Order: sequence, then C-alpha cells, then structure tokens
Amino acid sequence: MALHWALEALCLLPLLNPQNPACANVTAMPITSATLDWLNRRWFYVASAFRNPEYKQSAQEVQAAFFYFHTNPREDRVMVREHMTTGDRCIQNSTFLKVQRANGTLSKI
Ligand SMILES: *[C@@H]1O[C@H](CO)[C@@H](O)[C@H](O)[C@H]1NC(C)=O
Ligand SMILES: *[C@@H]1O[C@H](CO)[C@@H](O)[C@H](O)[C@H]1NC(C)=O
Ligand SMILES: *[C@@H]1O[C@H](CO)[C@@H](O)[C@H](O)[C@H]1NC(C)=O
Repeated sequence: MALHWALEALCLLPLLNPQNPACANVTAMPITSATLDWLNRRWFYVASAFRNPEYKQSAQEVQAAFFYFHTNPREDRVMVREHMTTGDRCIQNSTFLKVQRANGTLSKI
C-alpha cells in the first residue's frame, strides 16, 4: 500500500504549489531537493480515489493510516514507513521508492 499512498501525496504537489492555481493543468513538476525536504515528515491519510478495483477495495478497508517519508535531498531514494489500521489489524511496513527528479515521479524499487 505504501506506494499508493506515496503516489497520492505526490499528486497533491502541483495543487500545493502557490504558482499553480488548483484549476490549472496538473502537469508533471520536477522534484527538487526542496521538494524532498518538504516531503520529509508525517502524512495522514484522509481520502483516496482509485480506478483500479483492487486498490479501491483495499482503500475502503482502511480505517486510519499515516506514513512517514524519509528523504535526503542529495539522494534519489526515499524510504516510506506506513502505519495502517485495517479491519482489526494494525499494519506497519516500509518500502523504498526511487525518485525520478526530471519528470517528478516516484517508483517502487
Ligand atoms: C492544459 O494543457 C493542454 C495541453 O498542453 C493545453 O492545450 C490547455 O490549454 C491547458 N489548459 C490550461 C487551463 O492551462
Ligand atoms: C510489506 O511490504 C512488502 C514490500 O513492499 C510487501 O511485499 C508486503 O506484502 C507488505 N506487507 C504488508 C503486511 O502489507
Ligand atoms: C520518468 O522518468 C523515468 C526515468 O527516465 C522513466 O523510466 C519513467 O517512465 C518516466 N515516467 C513518466 C510518467 O514519464
């Protein structure tokens, strides 16, 4: 699930950039060291929308979730730690993502 949360968080980046009004095209923004520094904190899961039925189903089962991005402005690797309550279980997991700075994407290593 970590990858999905990560992608959601990054989908917000263009919306949070003050130079990009929310209604403007959501185009790929490069990821800079400043972006990585900004990501480096705890994020709470609020809502999600998926087309893929499998992701949609698993998101519906999530009662609460938060995750941490551990970034280093000089590295193109991000560790994501997730903490999630789903059903009657608490799940903690972590994964690494690779940063493609030029096209503003992250992918699972
Ligand atoms: C959005 O992007 C498309 C394709 O680049 C462009 O034709 C269109 O004018 C853009 N719209 C806005 C509101 O920027
Ligand atoms: C934890 O992450 C690993 C690697 O992404 C994944 O294979 C595994 O299914 C995850 N475990 C849980 C409980 O989500
Ligand atoms: C972003 O760049 C990487 C590395 O060049 C490439 O593998 C990936 O397909 C690109 N992703 C998108 C969405 O363009």
